[in-house]
Amino acid sequence: MTAIEVVNGTPDSGDLVEFRTAGGPRPAGIPEAEFSGAKGTTLLLHRDGGRTLFAGLGDVAQADGETLRRAAGQAVRHLVRLGSEHVTLMAGEWSHHARALVEGAILAAYQFDEFRPADARRKNSLRTVRVAIDSPEALVSVRTEAENGALLAEVTNEARALGNQPPNRLTPEALAGRAQKLAGAHRLTCKIWDARKLDREGFHGIVSVGKGSAAEPRLIALEYMRGSRREKPVLLVGKAVTFDSGGLCIKGREGMEEMKWDKMGGVAVLGAMQAIASLKLPVSVIGLIPAAENMLGEKAWRPSDIIEIYGGKTVEILNTDAEGRIILADALSYGRQHYQPRAIIDIATLTGACVVALGQSRAGLFTDDEHLAGVLAKAAARSGDALWRLPIGEDYDELIKSDVAAVKNIGPRWGGASTAACFLRRFTEDVPWAHLDIAGVAWLTKEKPWMEAGATGFGVRLLVEAVRGLSSVPA
Ligand code: BES
Ligand code: ZN
Ligand code: ZN
Repeated sequence: MTAIEVVNGTPDSGDLVEFRTAGGPRPAGIPEAEFSGAKGTTLLLHRDGGRTLFAGLGDVAQADGETLRRAAGQAVRHLVRLGSEHVTLMAGEWSHHARALVEGAILAAYQFDEFRPADARRKNSLRTVRVAIDSPEALVSVRTEAENGALLAEVTNEARALGNQPPNRLTPEALAGRAQKLAGAHRLTCKIWDARKLDREGFHGIVSVGKGSAAEPRLIALEYMRGSRREKPVLLVGKAVTFDSGGLCIKGREGMEEMKWDKMGGVAVLGAMQAIASLKLPVSVIGLIPAAENMLGEKAWRPSDIIEIYGGKTVEILNTDAEGRIILADALSYGRQHYQPRAIIDIATLTGACVVALGQSRAGLFTDDEHLAGVLAKAAARSGDALWRLPIGEDYDELIKSDVAAVKNIGPRWGGASTAACFLRRFTEDVPWAHLDIAGVAWLTKEKPWMEAGATGFGVRLLVEAVRGLSSVPA
């Protein structure tokens, strides 16, 4: 764990990071051609007792929290590679973004190296991150923000570490074990359904998706009830397919290894529950994580199967690669009936179509509820986990009508992210609900200057902020 300190004035040891905008004051004696302050640029200078890394923020009017988060991250990654142990972020006029600065620094220092041979592990030397401000009266508030940021980023990194685990190690059973351990460490109640119990209680969606794998499915419930007595809980539901081969409708071999990250929705819910419990927020939240591996063993589910989801709705299966919506349907139905939530947010690496629509920088947001849309937009701005609203309407719902069951599990080729969202909506009835499709943002195939490749932890901080917003807990 990296230690976080907030100090007044400039420390005289360790390495410094200074932020500059384009057109703003420049480092003394440095010509503009060498460092202009453009976004994403850096300049390293040596001084007595350490180094100073200048990081460009670009246009001052556009320097928001995410800009500061990335600039701090890029700077820290740069310095850590040079062996820095103590880094001071000169927050100055940016001290109102202290939380983002600390988040950026801690997120940047994470690396997935536990299976590398010892001599191939990059040394993570970072021991302290300091935030230096120049107004002593802000010390207390900046410290609170910095500590908040550190906690959220550390939890996000734990979620990334879990997400990067390979599927032979992180089976649904192992994920349930992690959830149980987490519940033990915090004031959380954890309930686990194994395959037999799932079958007995009518969770035929989760059972069907998991049948082709030797690794049995699980349903995980984490309960955190610290809101006022009358307040119904917020329900978070996350898809955790520990590996998605596509089942009998098998995927191509190109890129199939990336489907170990098909669990990142569930992992985000786990992380959010951990953060909410650690922060002791006065809210009531339930996290539901259906977990299964989608494989093609002799017991595997097949196209043309008809499955009865928890609560009785039937689904005609036409493609075994559209499995996420099936396990989510069970969890949404159960969660709605059992907890009578005030609002539901689900999060899933659900469709390639969403990646086609939005690329790899924003997740898709689908909802009919304007209040939820507003809360999520604010949560996105605060967390830096960017969203873009996409449509769900009757026109899309038409496309998943089935002749033989209540609904079918795929629509036609076009509009796949919206038909998938419509499928989920059928299991939420009239509870305010939002769906987040994180297929494009849950992992990075190539590193960014501010972040290692692999699981991003997208959604952990977003969900925490959304729960805060829904419960009107001051941030
Ligand atoms: N896990 C995939 C979606 C996915 C694709 C996530 C690419 C991240 C990157 C999901 O289970 C899936 O395979 N969806 C199909 C649905 C189709 C069969 C209707 C898809 O998107 O192709
Ligand atoms: Zn699939
Ligand atoms: Zn999937």
